Amino acid sequence: MANQNEETNQSGEGLVPPPQIPPDGLWENCLYAMWRTPLGLIGVATTTISIVLMLIGLALDMLGLVENPYFAALCYMILPGFMVVGLLIIPLACYVNRKQWLKDSLGAHLDDKSLCIDLSNPRHKKYMVGFTALTVLNVAILTIIGYEAYHFTDSPYFCGKLCHKVMAPEYTAYMRSPHSKVKCVECHIGPGASWFVKAKISGLRQVVAVFTDNFSRPIPAPVHHLRPARDTCEECHWPEKFHGEKVKKFYSFSNKDQENPEVQEISLHIGGQNPVTEKFEGIHWHVSSDVKVEYQPLDDRRTKIGKIKVTHADGVTEEYDIGHGDETETAGEEHEWRTMDCIDCHNRPTHVNDRMMERVDFGLLSRRIDPGLEGIREDSITVLEKEYTSREEAEELMIKTLIELQAGRHGKAYVDENGELLVKAGQFLLETWMNNVWPGMKITWGTYRQHLGHQDADDGFGCFRCHNDEHTTNIGKVIPQDCDLCHDEPE
Ligand code: HEC
Ligand code: HEC
Ligand code: HEC
Ligand code: HEC
Ligand code: HEC
Repeated sequence: MANQNEETNQSGEGLVPPPQIPPDGLWENCLYAMWRTPLGLIGVATTTISIVLMLIGLALDMLGLVENPYFAALCYMILPGFMVVGLLIIPLACYVNRKQWLKDSLGAHLDDKSLCIDLSNPRHKKYMVGFTALTVLNVAILTIIGYEAYHFTDSPYFCGKLCHKVMAPEYTAYMRSPHSKVKCVECHIGPGASWFVKAKISGLRQVVAVFTDNFSRPIPAPVHHLRPARDTCEECHWPEKFHGEKVKKFYSFSNKDQENPEVQEISLHIGGQNPVTEKFEGIHWHVSSDVKVEYQPLDDRRTKIGKIKVTHADGVTEEYDIGHGDETETAGEEHEWRTMDCIDCHNRPTHVNDRMMERVDFGLLSRRIDPGLEGIREDSITVLEKEYTSREEAEELMIKTLIELQAGRHGKAYVDENGELLVKAGQFLLETWMNNVWPGMKITWGTYRQHLGHQDADDGFGCFRCHNDEHTTNIGKVIPQDCDLCHDEPE
């Protein structure tokens, strides 16, 4: 090696020596670049520090010592990024240093062949072993972290909590829904690699949107690129399942009578594939395997429906339309056809938003709101309808406002006497409000509604979008609205 040094010095004679002359050969030059050049040091330091932090983070996360989505994002998404960047900087530093060296002609006589690997050379052997060991270690670390990152980005915790400001409404509703143990990704992504990739790309776009504060408030529903239900819902449910009849009771009160509810009892013909006749019947007929129902929504929210096409098993099709002859009302080519699936009725299977009146009446029924407090139904509605600028403000004012309203009705003494009941009612209302209203996201009562039934038919939601006696075929057949088509009185 001393020999090489001499040669180097000889050929470099007469030139201005570069500030960093490697002690010997080209390989040494590379290693030298790693440790002695600023760029090389940045690379090595970035890699080493990221790995150490990542391993500490991994340990803390696995032991459950830190439970914070930002912490997990740091460990599984940001630090691995730094590690990879560090690993890329190292060869770059070698390359830059070598180029500089050759340019300065110090190593000009050492043609490129000297950078080949010669395993008979014990030094080369040592480097190779070192290099291989480090590579195996790095790949192992990245694999473990990648696996954890995959689980982390698939968890409701990640979806719902990391973008807390944005996803809190969906996460909150989800947590108290029948699907609270179903991961977000099972409905929003579903199985298969291509959707996985699509979702990660769209996820990345969403993260950027959140950081640049460039997203719509509220997030629009429906989600137009949601995966068809056959690949998501039908991984767990199946249309053939025969649900038969389901009796449901609806209780409602009025401001005049807070004590005795009006009870509507209906028996819903949910149906499915009847095990006796093997025919599809009832409400789930729309998703039966031998019929296809398609429609053309006229607006983004799918609250107005133009043409409807039914294709039967034998290939016969029926087409319904509104306002035959009235071109302004009906759908044109520009409106996309959509095949009806679970989500056209169960549009909020997990992001369940309450109807305000129903919640107040539930409060009275469950006696969380004491029906004995005169005027409490009306005051509860006033309190829930009131606009608060933030959730903090609601927390501060809601119970107080309720008590003030009652004091206005009955006087101070009454309020003092019933203080406990009023606070209990106030707490129930606050909880209900907090579950449904998000001023920051511009979400309030009725922002998101569901299509099951016809309680919101006036606003274009529910079954009556089609079952409205207005959609007719050219021979005048209508989609019926007869009450006992969908439900009747239980026996
Ligand atoms: C059972 C299936 C299901 C699960 C689980 C689920 N979603 Fe959804 N999500 C939907 C459907 C269906 C829609 C479309 C809603 C509509 O059309 O009104 C939706 C809509 C949304 C929207 C659009 C805004 C809105 O409220 O309509 C967001 C955001 C969202 N989901 C986030 C999440 C997050 C975060 C999780 C997990 C914490 C999650 N979802 C879990 C089915 C699901
Ligand atoms: C990973 C499995 C899974 C997926 C995916 C899934 N569900 Fe469910 N779903 C369940 C389970 C489990 C229940 C029963 C919960 C219970 O009984 O509390 C349920 C219950 C329901 C119910 C009855 C709710 C009630 O109030 O009792 C409906 C309706 C429903 N799911 C619709 C859907 C729709 C629509 C989708 C697709 C957007 C979907 N599910 C996706 C597992 C799933
Ligand atoms: C035409 C509208 C419509 C379509 C399409 C539809 N459903 Fe339903 N489904 C209903 C109605 C209405 C109910 C009764 C809701 C209630 O309990 O208030 C119901 C009830 C259910 C229930 C609960 C049954 C029970 O016994 O409580 C499940 C689960 C369900 N549907 C799953 C699905 C799945 C999965 C799909 C898609 C394959 C689907 N539904 C398609 C309207 C529909
Ligand atoms: C996109 C349009 C559309 C929507 C929305 C819709 N339906 Fe239908 N429905 C139809 C059509 C079309 C038929 C077939 C009418 C016929 O052939 O007489 C039908 C038929 C039915 C039938 C009779 C099925 C049978 O046994 O033959 C029931 C029950 C029914 N719908 C219930 C509902 C309920 C409940 C909802 C809301 C949760 C709903 N539909 C929403 C289009 C729709
Ligand atoms: C296309 C199917 C369909 C038709 C037609 C229909 N309903 Fe309903 N109705 C439903 C469904 C589905 C629900 C359950 C909604 C839910 O679970 O929240 C419901 C719920 C109800 C309720 C209880 C909820 C409430 O609004 O208080 C009443 C009352 C009711 N229907 C009355 C009627 C009457 C009266 C008619 C005839 C003019 C009728 N319905 C026609 C599907 C239908």
